[in-house]
Amino acid sequence: MSNTMLEVRELTTKYITRFREDVYAVDHVSLKVEEGKTLGIAGESGCGKSTLALSLMGYYFPPLHYTSGEIIIDGHNITGMDPDVVRKMILGAEIAYIPQAAMNALNPTQKIIHFIEDVIQEHDLYVTKKDIYERARILFETLGLPAEVLQKYPVELSGGMKQRTVIAVSVLLLPKVLIADEPSSALDVTSQKMVIKMLRQLMETGLISSMIFITHELPLLYNVTDDIMVMYAGQIVEKGTAQETVFDPLHPYSKGLMGSIIVPEKGLRDVKLAAIPGVPPNLKNPPAGCRFAPRCKYVREECTLHSIPMHEAAGRRAYRCIIPEKELREIYAKEAYRNAR
Ligand SMILES: Nc1ncnc2c1ncn2[C@@H]1O[C@H](COP(=O)(O)OP(=O)(O)O)[C@@H](O)[C@H]1O
Ligand SMILES: [Mg+2]
Repeated sequence: MSNTMLEVRELTTKYITRFREDVYAVDHVSLKVEEGKTLGIAGESGCGKSTLALSLMGYYFPPLHYTSGEIIIDGHNITGMDPDVVRKMILGAEIAYIPQAAMNALNPTQKIIHFIEDVIQEHDLYVTKKDIYERARILFETLGLPAEVLQKYPVELSGGMKQRTVIAVSVLLLPKVLIADEPSSALDVTSQKMVIKMLRQLMETGLISSMIFITHELPLLYNVTDDIMVMYAGQIVEKGTAQETVFDPLHPYSKGLMGSIIVPEKGLRDVKLAAIPGVPPNLKNPPAGCRFAPRCKYVREECTLHSIPMHEAAGRRAYRCIIPEKELREIYAKEAYRNAR
């Protein structure tokens, strides 16, 4: 039996703003990541992906607040743990997070090696600088990064190299779960490929045991992750294997995400279709019923009446829509036929 590295059960969290308004950014999210597996999370900007990442590390500080649910890392339930303990015992060592735009957050006045010293000494006060250097050098060389980078300042590195450096630093303590939040989004195509190759390498070499890859580009996840969850307005709206979700999306939102991005890869669409009209809802006051209903081409009256549960579909798939799988497929097939004419 495989080991579950991370399990999240019905996690619900919210922001409480300065004006005392609640923003429901993560709503009853459940997920599981097994050892050796990668999970992709896709959805447009503002759908709660980064908040989910922060929430599932169990590290809460205002304005983010825990509401309910459970977080289990490698069999260890960390729900309700004191934030100071989480920072010392969990972050970096058990679960590591590479925030969105992390490369731009590097301290410009600090050489990379000094940044690494800070990271390691936070967890091990007694380790010598010489040992830290050796550890960093070996890690960098394993990952194909020149050791000279260690003696450089961030400004001396290209964007791609900065991002790969940040990723290398994030795995120094060999975390069980690595969360990469839009790790390739701000980069040119060549650097994007190098970043993705490096993340794969982290898995293959066993430097990390599992990974969550967050992106607003659903098609990017094909070839990168084993499973995919699509997130919309704080909720998971579809989950399945990468193959299923990318090539055969069921939820109208996932379908729209697949149609809205240019992907030059063989077998995927190579024309840019219209992006999904409209924007995700404001999460202070999400729509009643299906949250995607106001933007959905296939909306029906019942969609707005009550909240929609996840429906099981063939295999291990599930999606949050009242239209039966068979009917959705018929709708999509007709549409594809019409578009092809
Ligand atoms: N510090 C914050 N205070 C209040 N609301 C926030 C805060 N950060 C994010 N939000 C809101 O939470 C929702 C989800 O944001 P986020 O998790 O950043 O989405 P994503 O990563 O998918 O772009 C958005 O509606 C956003 O406006
Ligand atoms: Mg984000």
